[in-house]
Amino acid sequence: MQFQPILEDIVATLQPQLGAAGRVADYIPALARVPAAQFGIALRTCDGQEAAAGDCRVPFSIQSISKLFALTMGMRVMGDALWQRIGREPSGNPFNSLVQLEAEQGTPRNPFINAGAIAVTDRLVSHGDAKAEMLTLLSGLCNEPVHFDEEVAASEAATGFRNIALGNFMKSFGKIDNDVATVLDVYFHHCALAMNCVQLARATGYLCRDGLHPYNGHHLLTERQTRRVNALMLTCGTYDAAGEFAFLIGLPCKSGVGGGIVAVVPDHLSLCVWSPALDATGNSLLGMKALELFTAKTGLSVF
Ligand code: DON
Repeated sequence: MQFQPILEDIVATLQPQLGAAGRVADYIPALARVPAAQFGIALRTCDGQEAAAGDCRVPFSIQSISKLFALTMGMRVMGDALWQRIGREPSGNPFNSLVQLEAEQGTPRNPFINAGAIAVTDRLVSHGDAKAEMLTLLSGLCNEPVHFDEEVAASEAATGFRNIALGNFMKSFGKIDNDVATVLDVYFHHCALAMNCVQLARATGYLCRDGLHPYNGHHLLTERQTRRVNALMLTCGTYDAAGEFAFLIGLPCKSGVGGGIVAVVPDHLSLCVWSPALDATGNSLLGMKALELFTAKTGLSVF
């Protein structure tokens, strides 16, 4: 399939809608300044073909997409033991919700809501230098250097009252081993990674290749672990919009409030779309439309 004209066609179709609807995330002050009228798309096939269009090389804050890579690191270091403190069910609630944690004794529903990612990060902090390891992992996956946006990390730390509450609440149930401030510093940095669509399409390449690293030929995850990450993306990757994503798009996806969404077509390709204006569930409005157009035009879906 020739992907480049398909991506260019999607950019042309969405151009008139740029900045017209949705809202840029403003609960993190550094994100509120990002101009809404931007859109990028990129993909990488399992055999290394790349296609990209629009603002595909503009760096953006990956935010909750980092939860995917934190989970991958957690599965690598802990294997199935990771699931002793983290569930695998969709929450059906906003990504930063506290409500289920009390009834469920501080065990987050899944690794993709904020509470779940903070719990995964705690496990990573117990095992090593989780900031440095994240940069090494992503720079290797992208085949180029990846950095934290320190301004975004500081902005989140200064305003992250919900996350501070989530961390302390889980700690009160004995479900966080490390100092909460230390865990949150790592979590905020992971969310503040600055990457572009081309880099994220590359970085998620292992998810369409049964766990095989796109550049070094080694397995990052086993085939079974990779299937499980994709299953979690489908059921929990876009929060309380996961049902809508499965219905309209039919691909495992992971979104972030920076406006990025990554999607996986197992055994075919990985792709990333980005547009900063979000809908009420915190997912990129045009990103979602772009994925719908992509699956309609290509016929690719897991169903
Ligand atoms: O912790 C937060 O609230 C943000 N750093 C990440 C939230 C996010 O991206 C949720 N995604 N849609």
